[in-house]
Amino acid sequence: MARRKLVYEGKAKILYEGTEPGTLVQYFKDDATAFNAQKKEIIDGKGVLNNRLSEFFMMGLARIGVPTHFIRRLNMREQLIRQVEIIPLEVIVRNFAAGTMAKRLGMEEGTPLPRPIVEFSYKDDSLGDPLVPEEYIIAFGWASQQDLDDIIALALRVNDFMAGVMHGVGIKLIDFKIEVGRVWDNDFMRLIVADEISPDSCRLWDIESGRKLDKDVFRQDLGDLADAYTEVAKRLGVLPSNA
Ligand code: C5P
Repeated sequence: MARRKLVYEGKAKILYEGTEPGTLVQYFKDDATAFNAQKKEIIDGKGVLNNRLSEFFMMGLARIGVPTHFIRRLNMREQLIRQVEIIPLEVIVRNFAAGTMAKRLGMEEGTPLPRPIVEFSYKDDSLGDPLVPEEYIIAFGWASQQDLDDIIALALRVNDFMAGVMHGVGIKLIDFKIEVGRVWDNDFMRLIVADEISPDSCRLWDIESGRKLDKDVFRQDLGDLADAYTEVAKRLGVLPSNA
């Protein structure tokens, strides 16, 4: 790997200074973490799969007019992205109860929700990314009311796209998380989808069998994580079906 300036190292990705002004290189690691990094493992090939899958989803979003940070894939593990000012929120969209929602409300995992529900967590590992109401977000100045309205609209468009694409390959989109960033084009601020969209940040269940094809495989010790992600990539045509 060429020597270059490290900008930020997270649990699953590293950001380096980009090759063009206003850009960064996003490197996908093989590290899998869960429960705020209390559980950790290296999963061979996970970074390669997530780099390809995130490229696939971000390019699909761009095609339907949803702006994202993705510029182009550079190699097996890296993509060039636009530098953004990340809004410190995890934007979660849920179609079926699972994970923290199922636990909090005592709901059975997989229960359909009356409509897609968007919720926000404050991005802070030391606090365990706590769920926050919109009031907090506005009062603490993390985003304005207008930003929030725009973020919800963006998140629901991503949900429509992702749910449709996944349904087409026999997979139910239970929930997912996105991050949103601000960019300025000629002094005009825009909100764009940033970070990654991959089975690390979604819950994906096979429609027929209910098999989990996402990071819950790692969280819940359900088998080989790379196998599950490879299955998603093959169905989407991101990897050849005989790979
Ligand atoms: O854990 P919870 O049920 O709140 O997660 C909802 C969705 O957001 C899941 O798809 C999960 O993978 C994703 N998520 C994430 N990063 C986090 C928290 C949740 O990608 N830090």
